Amino acid sequence: MINPDAAVLITGATSGLGKECALALGAAGRTVIVHGRRHDAADEVVKQIRKKGGTALPFVVDFSDLKALDKAFQNFPSLPLHGVMANAGVISRRPKVLGLSAQGYDMTFAVNVLAHQLILMKLSDRVLEGGRIIIVTSGVHDPRNRLSRFARISEPKWVGAQHLAHADEAPPELDLSNGFLRYSASKLSNIFQARILQEKFPHFDVFALNPGFMVDTDLIHEVPSFLRPFLKSLGRIITPFVKSMRLSSTTAKDVRSLLENLDWKNGGFAYLDGNIIESPSPNALRHDLATELWKDASEIVESSISL
Ligand SMILES: NC(=O)c1ccc[n+]([C@@H]2O[C@H](COP(=O)([O-])OP(=O)(O)OC[C@H]3O[C@@H](n4cnc5c(N)ncnc54)[C@H](OP(=O)(O)O)[C@@H]3O)[C@@H](O)[C@H]2O)c1
Repeated sequence: MINPDAAVLITGATSGLGKECALALGAAGRTVIVHGRRHDAADEVVKQIRKKGGTALPFVVDFSDLKALDKAFQNFPSLPLHGVMANAGVISRRPKVLGLSAQGYDMTFAVNVLAHQLILMKLSDRVLEGGRIIIVTSGVHDPRNRLSRFARISEPKWVGAQHLAHADEAPPELDLSNGFLRYSASKLSNIFQARILQEKFPHFDVFALNPGFMVDTDLIHEVPSFLRPFLKSLGRIITPFVKSMRLSSTTAKDVRSLLENLDWKNGGFAYLDGNIIESPSPNALRHDLATELWKDASEIVESSISL
């Protein structure tokens, strides 16, 4: 039985998959903590949930600043937690478009990995027995993923957290000038985080979720704006026929099941493609790399917030 007073935090709940999940969970009667970096956008999602009789609270902070995120926990709702969905994410082929985080880290690694590392470090203790943590990864982490390679998203090489955090200064042979490589490495890192988190906290279940290629979100912002409606419409037509493509509303149903369906209980770490348990890439299964990522990301976060 899920504690009816326990809340679910969804990061990046102002757009795309996170917003779909927040609305779906709110409509299902769960208390949702709606994270966003923009006040107006987070308030709007909270308003939509409340309008339909649901319960929601905003949690507003920009993940590009670890110190601000650390401080924001002073205002984090003091509710018991049933779950956390670590969902906020960015991608850019040209890393300069995203710039650096407030602490000088590569933005993709800072938002997708380091901010969530801090959240997991701060909140995991508060997740109740039988709770769920979902870390959103991507099929791009896997060299065998044909759609990612077709879309020219580079397969990740594991180069370590320090190089990913300081990607602009990495040796040229690591090829980190390619923003897609930074993204796929961040998504491999998300699986490492999920695996080590499960080892540390066996009282709740941890899932690394590949949500599928979703054409109806705002993730790919580099397509010229006049082309976006056309590509989204085309993508919606193609989606039902391509196994690794999904609409965000479909993935939101999978997320709700992972959070609420007791059949998923006590299974331990699982990598899911939608609602199907699969094996992640061989590198993602390497315990030494996962341990290294967790240790190094924790050290980077701790040193950043103590400055
Ligand atoms: N779309 C896909 O095909 C796909 C495939 C595989 C995995 N994923 C993963 O799915 C997750 C959700 O992505 P999406 O497709 O739904 O994209 P999206 O529509 O762009 O949503 C991303 C969310 O992250 C938030 N965010 C970005 N930068 C942030 C920052 N500095 N601080 C705080 N929040 C920030 C965004 O806030 P704003 O609303 O303020 O921008 C937004 O709420 C990501 O982790 C992504 O890597 C997506």
